[in-house]
Amino acid sequence: MAESIAFFEGRFVPLSEAKVSVQIHALNYGTAIFEGIRGYYNELNGQMYLFRLRDHYSRMLANCKLIKVDLPYDVDALCALTVELIRRCGFKENIYVRPLAYKNACQIGTKLVPGADITIFAVPMGDYIPTDRALKVCISSWRRIEDNSIPARGKICGSYVNSALAATEARDNGFDEAIVLNNDGHVAEGAAMNLFMVRAGELVTTPITANILEGITRDTVIKIARQEFGLSCQARQIDRTELYLADELFFCGTGAQIAAIGSVDHRVIGDGRPGPITLKLTEAYSKIVRGMDKKYIEWCTPVYEVASVEQV
Ligand SMILES: Cc1ncc(COP(=O)(O)O)c(C=O)c1O
Repeated sequence: MAESIAFFEGRFVPLSEAKVSVQIHALNYGTAIFEGIRGYYNELNGQMYLFRLRDHYSRMLANCKLIKVDLPYDVDALCALTVELIRRCGFKENIYVRPLAYKNACQIGTKLVPGADITIFAVPMGDYIPTDRALKVCISSWRRIEDNSIPARGKICGSYVNSALAATEARDNGFDEAIVLNNDGHVAEGAAMNLFMVRAGELVTTPITANILEGITRDTVIKIARQEFGLSCQARQIDRTELYLADELFFCGTGAQIAAIGSVDHRVIGDGRPGPITLKLTEAYSKIVRGMDKKYIEWCTPVYEVASVEQV
């Protein structure tokens, strides 16, 4: 097992030493912005690829504005720090990188005062939710947070209590995952993943104004669907009952990857197994993230200076 190291307070330290005070604003009020970035280890060429690294940090820095987090790093610096961190860790398996930009003032009171830092660490990660079978999903009784309450597009730590409630309720009730509706009753997304529906051969996903995170995997799926398979893809409001009637449904996200949905509220989707379009997209995605499709290689940041095996 590789040694775990964190970037913390401007230095690389053992992960066990990356600790904050119980007084910090982020811990007391949830005032932090996080990211989740996957690293895929390609055993064929001994290389680790960080998927859409720049896009994750661009989104993170944009989101930092929402809660007035000022970091002394730009996107280039954060990418370089992450590559250096993973190189030092030396992982030879798939990983999940967690950057966390947090309000670090030791202050009682909710006001967003200056003072912020960023920590980055990584852990080995396989499937976050099963991808080898179609999931049994429910509509959550919890509603999605609204943009004018806590913006879902912000990846703000405190707002993930909403995701935690939905995900936990689903599992407590024997489902694999939850789909969350907005207060107006239309579909938002999964607890921590975006959602796609296939109806009449067309891909449909909820729009970025539906209180969703503007997912990077969502964007990847749209691009692959159009460019690789010539599929038409639209973002529009989705009714709850359209889900029941869909030909295929799947979640997507950095953690979730592409995960087929086999039933919603006990209504079988298609034949209950991953559908043909979901399978095609999964196969393409799986190659792209491992740096095996040269057309998309610019999305893959290699970590190791010299791959341990000849490039394939
Ligand atoms: C609420 C929510 N929706 C969607 C996603 C998917 O976003 P991305 O593909 O950028 O990881 C995530 C993150 O994984 C999320 O937390």
